[in-house]
Amino acid sequence: MATPSGTIFRFIPQGIRGIPEQREPEPPNFGQIKLENERLKEHIKIGMSAIERTIQVSYRHQVHFTQGVFSADNRALRDVLVNDREERLRKALVIIDESLALSQPGLAREIECYFATYSDCLKLVCPPVVLEGGERAKNSYFHVSEIHSEVEKYHIDRHSYIIAVGGGALLDVVGLAAATAHRGVRHVRIPTTTLSQDDSGVGVKNGINAFGKKNFIGTFAPPFAVINDFQLLHSLPARDKRAGYVEAVKVALIRDGIFFNAIENDAEALAQFEPAAMQRLIYRSAELHLNHIATSGDPFEFGSARPLDFGHWAAHKLEQLSDYKLRHGEAVAIGIALDVIYARRIGLLDTASSERVINLLEKLGFELFANELLNIDAEHNLLVLTGLEEFREHLGGELTITLLKSVGEGVEVHAMNLPKVIEAIYELHERHNRRTHSVVHVHGAS
Ligand SMILES: NC(=O)c1ccc[n+]([C@@H]2O[C@H](COP(=O)([O-])OP(=O)(O)OC[C@H]3O[C@@H](n4cnc5c(N)ncnc54)[C@H](O)[C@@H]3O)[C@@H](O)[C@H]2O)c1
Ligand SMILES: [Zn+2]
Repeated sequence: MATPSGTIFRFIPQGIRGIPEQREPEPPNFGQIKLENERLKEHIKIGMSAIERTIQVSYRHQVHFTQGVFSADNRALRDVLVNDREERLRKALVIIDESLALSQPGLAREIECYFATYSDCLKLVCPPVVLEGGERAKNSYFHVSEIHSEVEKYHIDRHSYIIAVGGGALLDVVGLAAATAHRGVRHVRIPTTTLSQDDSGVGVKNGINAFGKKNFIGTFAPPFAVINDFQLLHSLPARDKRAGYVEAVKVALIRDGIFFNAIENDAEALAQFEPAAMQRLIYRSAELHLNHIATSGDPFEFGSARPLDFGHWAAHKLEQLSDYKLRHGEAVAIGIALDVIYARRIGLLDTASSERVINLLEKLGFELFANELLNIDAEHNLLVLTGLEEFREHLGGELTITLLKSVGEGVEVHAMNLPKVIEAIYELHERHNRRTHSVVHVHGAS
């Protein structure tokens, strides 16, 4: 289901709330100017003065779908990099995810050959730099400054490219380095996990963890381009192939009931990692994520709402409590199950819909409980609940959590009933116990 042509989305961020739109300048009225000058003098005298303008910036956000991105005869990457008529060599620094490099040993060489093929217009400044991927890479500033050193060493400027090839964690690290070197170097993402192809890689954020908190340091910086190549996923372990499904389920749940039905229909094929089903899921999920960014009116999250983080308040906390042993997608699956049960318990969501969601996640192979849900502090409070305040703080403003009203429709709430959240946690626990016991029973019987 690869669409060789690029899907191009554009968005223009809206003015920051509270700042009035800039008006067309009026013809000069000299009497008025005199009056204004008097008023200004008066204001300055009493220390009051302000100049307000609205700054509009337009971004072109392009996501291309292709196969074999580094095959010499595939011009997708070349065409993305050579985007104007200037006669110059486009310099590129390529960073690749270590696990990817190990499981696809020919990849670095293939990238070098690709650049050699187009040496009339492209210049790879050094052999691809292999960098640790996975969540651990996000837990310090070390790799960001390593990339900055390469930028300095190879004279990468704001018109050169930093190309990241890897999972969501590596893309977050490289994205942050690219956004901060020279205040922003052109950044091309080539995501290599299901999750980064169907969600994180096509978004506009980057970040690393600090003070034990997810994505504490980061920026909003739309990439220059994203290229999704399904073939790059073949070496992913089953766990990481699956983890990304949950972001598709998430966006289907809050935005597109028909897509949710389609995932249900494909559930068995997805559980077997059948390529056609995976590609359908990735394409539509990426499209829905991009639609949100391009049309929500708040791509840089100036407000307090973040609908695409449905199921994430608990997930981010669980990732941290598990010392990042839980994958982001695995934690989000638990977070969605928790919020769906909670929504049912407060009478927002009907039982049949809540069961549908949980059944689909289980069918896809997700474990919907983690012991970290029951971790407590010295006062016997469940630690996961602190995720709510951390989530609010990360977004700023009023607590805003997206819950499910029906399949395909999210709703924002500004308060959570903690006793009901705790009931939902215990319900997940019981469900998990019943499930594991029945699995043991079936095995014992056979
Ligand atoms: N910036 C955003 O908007 C955003 C959105 C959602 C998630 N995220 C972040 O994305 C991260 C999760 O990303 P992920 O699910 O891609 O996991 P990941 O990046 O941790 O990758 C999982 C593992 O697979 C390895 N790997 C990557 N590609 C491979 C391949 N093709 N073959 C073999 N191994 C490969 C990685 O090295 C890693 O060990 C989290 O840190 C999460 O917070 C960011
Ligand atoms: Zn996520």
